Amino acid sequence: MTTTLLTNIGELVSWDPEQPVLGGAALVIDAGRVAWIGPSASAPAADAAVDVGGRAVIPGFVDSHSHLVFAGDRSEEFAARMAGQAYAAGGIRTTVAATRAATDDELLARAAALVQEMVRQGTTTVEIKSGYGLSVRDEARSLAVARQLTEETTFLGAHVVPEEYADDPAGYVELVTGAMLAAVAPYARWIDVFCEEGAFDVDQARAVLDAGAAAGLRGRLHANQLSYGGGVRLACELGLAAVDHCTYLTDRDVTALADSGTVATLLPGVEFSTRQPYPDARRLLDAGVRVALASDCNPGSCFTSSMPLCIALAVRELGMTPTEALRAATETGARALGRGDGDPAGSLQVGAPADLAVLEAPSHLHLAYRPGVPLVRQVWRGGRPV
Ligand code: NIG
Ligand code: FE
Repeated sequence: MTTTLLTNIGELVSWDPEQPVLGGAALVIDAGRVAWIGPSASAPAADAAVDVGGRAVIPGFVDSHSHLVFAGDRSEEFAARMAGQAYAAGGIRTTVAATRAATDDELLARAAALVQEMVRQGTTTVEIKSGYGLSVRDEARSLAVARQLTEETTFLGAHVVPEEYADDPAGYVELVTGAMLAAVAPYARWIDVFCEEGAFDVDQARAVLDAGAAAGLRGRLHANQLSYGGGVRLACELGLAAVDHCTYLTDRDVTALADSGTVATLLPGVEFSTRQPYPDARRLLDAGVRVALASDCNPGSCFTSSMPLCIALAVRELGMTPTEALRAATETGARALGRGDGDPAGSLQVGAPADLAVLEAPSHLHLAYRPGVPLVRQVWRGGRPV
């Protein structure tokens, strides 16, 4: 097994508790993992050396929320929103029709291209949801596609009630918790529900999450995106790894999040693309809540694959510092995918997978300081350049 030394790192963001951000650093990779980090001057010898020219090195982004398996285009809906129309959950049905009409190969090609687009922008771990099939066959093949691209796959049969069940939402929940769940379980690690007006209420969400848990799937939730409601408190009560959106929060919701340890995943690309009010990361962080950032890349509410954009928005609009935003997009993103204490995922501490991005910049501050500029120069995954 050969070891690789990255030298001349202008700034290394490792999230190591002793020195989370270190100037003039080096990093040794062994067997795909970080084996050593420290000052350049005291770096050990390695089989190969790569000089990164004084650039910053950060952990690869962990994008813990995306919907990449779909067909069709909703740019007209976006244009209508920018002309004043409000975002509504019902638009999801447009993508459902297109997705059902697409072949497996088409769905895979599209999703794979989006994953590549993400990787080019520094994302090294991505979660992918189903949710545009909404039939047993189409949810199962959506998750089979997702599973070819990531281990972090999520069953979102409870995205909206499809047209053919419009008069029988209870029947649809029965399908989701029965035949559909059984068909997707081999391909899914997580189960998710869109808990919102126009989608599913708290009781329905609980039923779906309970059925998922019985089938061995861990829960996560879309909640409090468009209005106040009980979704966030349900996620905290059930001890879910993450609850996502968290735009409309009461003080009780914030307290529940702080007490539970459930990660609040904020998706500022959505508010950017729907002209909705942004969530308040500052309020959450000040209350002791764990905050993650993710893209929510999907054809309806937010069609960006860019974690750097999410970081810039989080700093400018959500009240985060640049360092908090980067941590939210890496280490806390990993926690939102169930990585707990003592697990170095989403970091470059010793023992972490060598998933990293070399920036065309001297420090991570540039991610927010230079919005819209493609600063990711090189991405490494499992100790190798991609
Ligand atoms: O996370 N909120 C629910 N689902 C997606 C939007 C899906 C769509 O509009 O197609 C989201 O924002
Ligand atoms: Fe989403």
